[in-house]
Amino acid sequence: MTANAALVARSVGDYEGLARERLDPDRWAWLSGGAGDEVTLRANIDDWAALRLLPRMLRKLTDGHTRIDLLGRSCPHPILLAPLAFQRLLDPLGECASAAAAAAQGAGMVLSGQSSMPLEEVARVLLPEKTRGPLWFQLYLNGDRGYDQTLIERIQHAGYEGLVLTIDAPVQGPRDREKRAEFRLPPDIAAVNLVGAPKPAATSTGAWCGGLLQSAADWDDVEWLRSRSRLPLLLKGVLHKDDARQAKELGADALIVSNHGGRVLDGAVSTAWALPRIADALHGSLPLLVDGGIRRGTDIVKALALGASAVLIGRPYATALAAAGPQGVAHMIRLLRDEFEIALALCGCSSPADVTRVVLR
Ligand code: FNR
Repeated sequence: MTANAALVARSVGDYEGLARERLDPDRWAWLSGGAGDEVTLRANIDDWAALRLLPRMLRKLTDGHTRIDLLGRSCPHPILLAPLAFQRLLDPLGECASAAAAAAQGAGMVLSGQSSMPLEEVARVLLPEKTRGPLWFQLYLNGDRGYDQTLIERIQHAGYEGLVLTIDAPVQGPRDREKRAEFRLPPDIAAVNLVGAPKPAATSTGAWCGGLLQSAADWDDVEWLRSRSRLPLLLKGVLHKDDARQAKELGADALIVSNHGGRVLDGAVSTAWALPRIADALHGSLPLLVDGGIRRGTDIVKALALGASAVLIGRPYATALAAAGPQGVAHMIRLLRDEFEIALALCGCSSPADVTRVVLR
């Protein structure tokens, strides 16, 4: 199955079908599902698809390339792996398998704070590769600054090059599909880097009354985090232009326009909708990344046209990992890279920096 999967897959969508066949229904529901009626999950995909490209012809494309500069690093292309929790649910090597694929294909990687592999092991897989993208660590703040400070020092010591604070999930969204499938984390898979983390004192089911939000991060925490680390700080989960402006004022180095892949607030705007509005508000003063529904190289061109410097992909690499392990993820990134390169050329752009809103209708 593993070897065959990479042979038969010709697109990101093919890996989705293969993963669905392979995974137990409860893991499939965890991976593929979104919050509520999954309106935002679908909108993320539909809104990229609804944008139309308006290509230019006969331009000189010699010396074309897909390289970008991102927070001081030259990257072979603008694709990063988004933080996805508990990847050992999908492959025995979990996040190390994804890191090996990112290394092989020059992709960046954001390791989830809820990684099921030790953060040092993942760094050891990716960091030695010379032509790689950046390696960043994603965290939520736990409301215990002593604990968070120790974790930040550990992340820096392991060689991570950026901190990604996820701000859009102070509580978990109601993921009905996952609940119907009775998904439970098996006892041998855990957030191994967060052992000893303070747990919110939930005493009842409601988020407010249950006390979950007592420890949710706020803007003061962003300021604190900015002051505690020399690493570039990215905020993930920005959808409103005023939040983007505030993040910039507090010293964020880049923003990730994201709605958590439609897994938190159902009915939230799609990222294709939010991105140009945030780009207009910031006038290019901060690098923007975007995720949610990116499934084709043409989606990457559209994201760059709307103001992104790079994109993150979530479910596409998770499905490739489930279907065909690290080779599957590497192959999936390659497919997307090739599609992106073809789309760039067909739009008459010789590099990512060449892409502007002019390529959109
Ligand atoms: C996620 N996402 C996520 N985000 C984050 O900041 N920390 C995390 O631990 C996780 N875990 C996670 C698990 C699973 C199974 C999914 C599908 C998503 C959100 C993720 O980083 C990203 O924002 C979305 O997945 C992007 O949307 P697409 O590419 O999946 O459509």
